Amino acid sequence: MDAHVELVRRAKEVLKENRLGRFTKPAPMLYPYQWNWDSGFIAMAYAHYDMSLAYDEMQSLFSAQWQNGMLPQIVFHQQSDLYFPGPDFWQTERSSESPSAVPSSGITMPPVHGFVLLHMLRKSRDLSMMKSFLKIMWPKLSALHDYLYTHRDPGQEALPYIRHPWEGGTDNSPLYDHVFSQLDLDHLEIPSYKRKDLKSSEAVHQRPHKKDYDLYIYLVDLFRKNNYDEQLINELCPFRIQDPLFIGILNYANEAMLELGEFLAIDTGQVREWHEATSRAMRSKLYNKAGWFDGYDLDSRRRIPVRTNSTLMPYLTFSQSEAERRQFERAYKEGFLKDGHYACPTLAFGEDAFESDRYWRGPLWLNMNFLLSLVMERSKLPDLALQLRKDSFECVERFGFFEYFDTDKSKAENGYGTDSFSWSAAMIIIQAETLNA
Ligand code: GLC
Repeated sequence: MDAHVELVRRAKEVLKENRLGRFTKPAPMLYPYQWNWDSGFIAMAYAHYDMSLAYDEMQSLFSAQWQNGMLPQIVFHQQSDLYFPGPDFWQTERSSESPSAVPSSGITMPPVHGFVLLHMLRKSRDLSMMKSFLKIMWPKLSALHDYLYTHRDPGQEALPYIRHPWEGGTDNSPLYDHVFSQLDLDHLEIPSYKRKDLKSSEAVHQRPHKKDYDLYIYLVDLFRKNNYDEQLINELCPFRIQDPLFIGILNYANEAMLELGEFLAIDTGQVREWHEATSRAMRSKLYNKAGWFDGYDLDSRRRIPVRTNSTLMPYLTFSQSEAERRQFERAYKEGFLKDGHYACPTLAFGEDAFESDRYWRGPLWLNMNFLLSLVMERSKLPDLALQLRKDSFECVERFGFFEYFDTDKSKAENGYGTDSFSWSAAMIIIQAETLNA
């Protein structure tokens, strides 16, 4: 008997409640639109029980793809007063590249879509329908990767950068503190704005600080003032980071595209080049012999030595020697495992910036645990993969489908952020069968 039947049933309920027409919002109140990588994880889950929902999710996301290939972080399919900044603030119509059919934000997010589509293919029971769908998606996916390698890689290093913490998906990560600390808020012109994410006293404590939010808004304002012109932004943007999570995901998606291309009998020469070049560059520029990958700030030309769990994501595609594998295992256990705590925190225990309950600065997030479990499998560490999955399930069983969780088992009293969070539900659906095996 499947021990997780009831949890999976509730997870499907969460997704059903958050579904709006042809897409699924991340949560009922805090996030009322379609978010890019959230939808990717959600589509993976739909592929387990209703492929038509997965098709819809991906197609409605890509309906907002820009002409230059960028896939936006948020698609504003409908009006809402619950979230700031909305379409009126982004004003992406200033760019001739933005789609006219539907408004969107003007930045992107971790490009999970290649491996989302591969997951859909693996779950498909109607290969001819899947083939027709993938044939439509392939040029869109290639255009997205092409955008990243063309516009986000000024040094032609095959390490595309992010230009806003929201692009990294881990908004408030200490990986970004280094760049923010060099910006002098008093001398920056910040437009007036009103946050909508601080509706409770807990939120005030758990969500990003005002000064960080000021900088998020400063960057958005810089992009819109420059009409989302790629070249100008590349010259003017003070935040350009080669982020190991974003790059690790990109290369994992490249790898998935090689398999998709084979299924479609399409030439994958370009994808192979991207994959090889990024694999080489991750090793030569970001790899840290201590057992992880550093971020890199393109402006100060410095490595960012902060041990978030993002620093492990390039292992999604990395070929390790036996010595490197052992070093990785040691570093992971030392940094991210601790008695009485769930695996695994978003920031290594003992890092100065560690905060057990603040957004992306220590708590456990289910999507990161999922990706790390894939890293562990690849690194032939199945027990560590299982531990990550089991701990994710325990958090949801104890507290519900929250956005993120305290890793301290005895301190934790409830989940953090918003409840009924779609990707937390998606992660349960995707991984339930691996726990039954
Ligand atoms: C937060 C998360 C981001 C996510 C979004 C919607 O901003 O940091 O990763 O995509 O919420 O769920």
